[in-house]
Amino acid sequence: MEIKIIGVVGAGQMGNGIAQVAALAGLQVVMSDIADSFVQKGLRTISKNLDRMVEKGKIPSQKKDELMGSIKGTIQMKDMAGVDFVVEAAVENEPLKLNIFKELDQVCRKEIILSSNTSSISITKIASATQRPSQVIGMHFMNPVPVMQLVEIIRGLQTSQETFMAVKSLAEKMGKTPVEANDFPGFISNRILMPMINEAIYTLFEGVGTPEAIDTVMRLGMNHPMGPLALADLIGLDTCFSIMEVLYKGLGDPKYRPCPLLKKYVDAGYLGRKTGRGFYNYS
Ligand code: CAA
Repeated sequence: MEIKIIGVVGAGQMGNGIAQVAALAGLQVVMSDIADSFVQKGLRTISKNLDRMVEKGKIPSQKKDELMGSIKGTIQMKDMAGVDFVVEAAVENEPLKLNIFKELDQVCRKEIILSSNTSSISITKIASATQRPSQVIGMHFMNPVPVMQLVEIIRGLQTSQETFMAVKSLAEKMGKTPVEANDFPGFISNRILMPMINEAIYTLFEGVGTPEAIDTVMRLGMNHPMGPLALADLIGLDTCFSIMEVLYKGLGDPKYRPCPLLKKYVDAGYLGRKTGRGFYNYS
């Protein structure tokens, strides 16, 4: 089945990035969230990103209007009834994702694929909330979605080969490079990235260096495009904490213990760029 209309559940930084990339790939998009203010914020971010592309001469200005017209915002899950494919990009919380998939399974046509942008939660578990486990798969984009080339594709235990091939070709159509990972806590990306970020936070916690020193060492010493603390602020400290918890609980090894300083920052509402304060101050 040809995918012409894609549903994106969640209009946050991952959801709106996925919607933008899908529209640029020529797809119609239905982007949902639980409140209209979230939907409008997501649409504003896409509009700003497209303005930047117009300024740089990457797309003509009338193309921007056309692209914005191809993205429909909604707060009604029932609007997913007409889509040909779904990417769920809500917050990283297992019970919440299970509920969303249960609802999507009821609302969406029987033949379509439901994918999750989860960065660590079991796809097999998410699939179990539906009556179509062979059509459930992980489609994990990286932040910022319009810039990063990778899409990690994760098969659950029951995911069919047909589903895998459909998602692989959709990722390619969206200009991304798909890489397959097994359904294991954190998959490949966050199994490796998040312990590094967590260790950087321990390095700060134990007074080994300032945030600037830690990030400069990794940027200039290891050629990372940004330091791990700045990257944590970009990803969101709540997301980093949730992923560390999934690794810690799922793999049962104390080496994945989330740093207490990370927990403290999350409790204080220091969630990174999105709240104006994380390891750095953005206000
Ligand atoms: N949205 C859209 N475009 C953006 C953007 C955004 N949020 N941020 C930057 N860009 C674009 C810029 O417009 C610019 O485009 P052009 O090349 O066409 O001019 C390009 O990206 C480079 O931007 P800048 O020159 O402003 O900045 P930079 O060179 O320092 O790059 C960066 C910024 C791309 C974010 C770079 O620092 C980087 O690659 N950082 C690492 C990001 C990373 O590791 N992401 C993965 C996070 S893990 C994850 O997402 C998965 C998970 O599960 C947690």
